[in-house]
Amino acid sequence: MEEIDIIKPDDWHVHFRDNEILKAVVPETTRHFRRSIVMPNLLPPIINAEQALNYKKEIENAIPQSDNFEPFMTIYLTENINKDELKFAFDEKAVFAAKLYPAGATTNSDSGVKDISKIMTTLETMAKIGMPLLIHGEVTDKKIDVFDRERVFIDEKLDNICKKFPELKITLEHITTKDAVDYVNDGNKNLAASITPHHLALNRNALFVGGIRPHNYCLPILKREIHRKSLLKAAISGNKKFFLGTDTAPHLKIDKENACGCAGIFNATYCLAILAQIFDNEKSIDKLENFVSKNGAFHYNLGLNKEKIKLRKIQEKVVFRRYVNVGNDKIKIFEPDFPIYWRVDNY
Ligand code: DOR
Ligand code: ZN
Repeated sequence: MEEIDIIKPDDWHVHFRDNEILKAVVPETTRHFRRSIVMPNLLPPIINAEQALNYKKEIENAIPQSDNFEPFMTIYLTENINKDELKFAFDEKAVFAAKLYPAGATTNSDSGVKDISKIMTTLETMAKIGMPLLIHGEVTDKKIDVFDRERVFIDEKLDNICKKFPELKITLEHITTKDAVDYVNDGNKNLAASITPHHLALNRNALFVGGIRPHNYCLPILKREIHRKSLLKAAISGNKKFFLGTDTAPHLKIDKENACGCAGIFNATYCLAILAQIFDNEKSIDKLENFVSKNGAFHYNLGLNKEKIKLRKIQEKVVFRRYVNVGNDKIKIFEPDFPIYWRVDNY
């Protein structure tokens, strides 16, 4: 048997939703993670300090007594965002960062930004006050092939933002392409990227194995194997610019197994076991702690967690719970197509 102790991890990109789904999924994250950045794409979106604080309370009420967890809240950028309100929310520590969704790019992004030039002065304010910008990096132009939308966003939008605001701390979220890895690697020191477990585990073939696989549908969509390999290389490199943001995104089974199924993969439950297996398969288990517990904290200028967790490699492959129940429906738990022998101790 093999075991490792690592600093307790953080998940720098989660979707908790609200109401019943929130109550069901919060413990799946707080069991293993110490801190998370919580995305603001609710209906209606979180656009001011008051909403963020109310939402934070709802999350805190759902954290089990046994778990020590801190949610970091975010504001949803719109073209009409009030800069004074944004600054107030950040100064009062009601929110930690702001999220840029290009309008129409993904789930609940309709109130997002259609024209980035309209938020340039907001980005200038954020750079000044030291507020991180989190970006869903895809263009939404229907003429652009869905598999190219991240690359085109980098060329046509991100590069411009980075050049205009080199002091702005930017996270390119859930990167999916070699183009993104290369751009972030070559970019300025304030630019970093989060990577999800599902983009490390799967390539786009997983969408069509023997039929259409709605539970592997997420945005940005899974890409070719060369892209997965590039993400994997970045994740296991130890390079501080790359860190875990799971993008765990719960949707009810009925909304996934649907003629127009929602984008999002709920991966919180076995995320660390899956990552341990992926790093182990690459003979890089010693780099797991950098990716899940250190690099994100460095990027956000936060201290490292004091607590530790233990991961064990066992003889028998782990049998996964398949669903989290929510009322009369349920949420499918992400399970990759290879065996997992790792588990978080006491779980
Ligand atoms: O797959 C995704 N699901 N990608 C996103 O960007 C949003 C997320 C969600 O909120 O469901
Ligand atoms: Zn997300």
